[in-house]
Amino acid sequence: MAGSVSRRDFARLFALGGSAALFADPVWARTAPQAPAFAPGGASAGEAFWKTVREQFVMPADLGVLNAANLCPSSRPVLEALKRETDSVDRDPSGQNRARLSGEKENTRKALAEFLRVTPEEIVITRNTSEANNMVSSGVELKAGDEVIVFADNHPSNLTAWNEKAKRYGFTVVTVPQKNPHPGMEYYLDAYTKAITPRTRLLSFTHLTSTVGDLFPAKELCALARARGILSLVDGAQTFGLLDVDIADISPDFYTGSAHKWPCGARECGVLYINARAHKQIWPSIYSAYPGAVGISRTFESFGQRDEATMIAFREALQFQTKVGRAAIEQRSRSLAQQLIAGLAKLPDVKVWTSPNPSLNGAVVSFLPGSLNPPRLGQALYEKEKLGLAGRGLGDRGGLRASPHFYNTPVEVDRLVGAIGRYLKTGV
Ligand SMILES: Cc1ncc(COP(=O)(O)O)c(C=O)c1O
Repeated sequence: MAGSVSRRDFARLFALGGSAALFADPVWARTAPQAPAFAPGGASAGEAFWKTVREQFVMPADLGVLNAANLCPSSRPVLEALKRETDSVDRDPSGQNRARLSGEKENTRKALAEFLRVTPEEIVITRNTSEANNMVSSGVELKAGDEVIVFADNHPSNLTAWNEKAKRYGFTVVTVPQKNPHPGMEYYLDAYTKAITPRTRLLSFTHLTSTVGDLFPAKELCALARARGILSLVDGAQTFGLLDVDIADISPDFYTGSAHKWPCGARECGVLYINARAHKQIWPSIYSAYPGAVGISRTFESFGQRDEATMIAFREALQFQTKVGRAAIEQRSRSLAQQLIAGLAKLPDVKVWTSPNPSLNGAVVSFLPGSLNPPRLGQALYEKEKLGLAGRGLGDRGGLRASPHFYNTPVEVDRLVGAIGRYLKTGV
């Protein structure tokens, strides 16, 4: 499996005697595995391998939270780095120590560049995807007569933001409507192609939608934009840390993501990738002190004082995923999602909004649970079954959303399908 680690490497990676000892919290120390137990073969060893991975998270074994599209837990190495570097600043808030932390932050930039397969000179470390998306919509110079094409299912940070800024700067927003079920990659490629006019300056879309988990033809849409001299913004909040994304290959002008979603990083950290070819086409939104050291970060990352510990812990998250194996993580999460879609499809009256076609989905699964009240079902699943899902409201493609990640298990997915099946018979 590409990017996986050998059994010996894995044992070394998770030999946690040291890290467990660092924590004062006795619960963490107690639950930290002393020696990883899994069959030979590394990532291909199956459930034993994934059990060891799961033990790197402090979530109790009986709590099945399938909500990665919203927020992921941080792994032990991330928590350890966060605690270590936070303590360091409080023990020694000198300029000298902070200079060391700034250097460490640059290592996170390098790790991010490697993770996305781009260069450190193209990376801005932001607070989250919302900030990164807004840095694009505020930073690209647009005026009356210019057009921006967005997708109706974009997150508010990439939809409301464009509409509000259009009011202020006078440009026009053209919205490509969503279609359910996913009508296929060609459909959206065609819809964007038809929406382009000589006035189009930028097209923006979500790589994998947070609503129903529709995957978009990112590479093809970016190529279309490039061929027409149009900028492209890919909102990667739902693919960064889930898919083994290669940004050099997709080649957008801008790609955004959050550490605290699929990468399982520290909260309140994110990324804005700005392709070198677009550096002269965007203005910084914030001017202050403490910029990054290289490339675009020297002008775009002067956010004033920040929490370096978070940014350093972000690097641990990226390294953790790399050690587990990014291709293995993608395969694991997607296979759990397919298991869930297949299980839900067998339940009477359950309407699955997410495409069952694995070339059109990722690991975000939305469904309407028959005649059951979705908020009540969500609450019962949490309180009685220890399963955490997200609500989707009762309106457009409403119901519940489950987004399994590599720390979830096939047993949790079975528990979920089984519980919904029971509630469909008994009511909630
Ligand atoms: C597609 C998409 N974009 C942007 C965001 C915003 O992410 P954050 O709250 O981390 O800024 C989300 C959050 O769910 C999202 O799903």
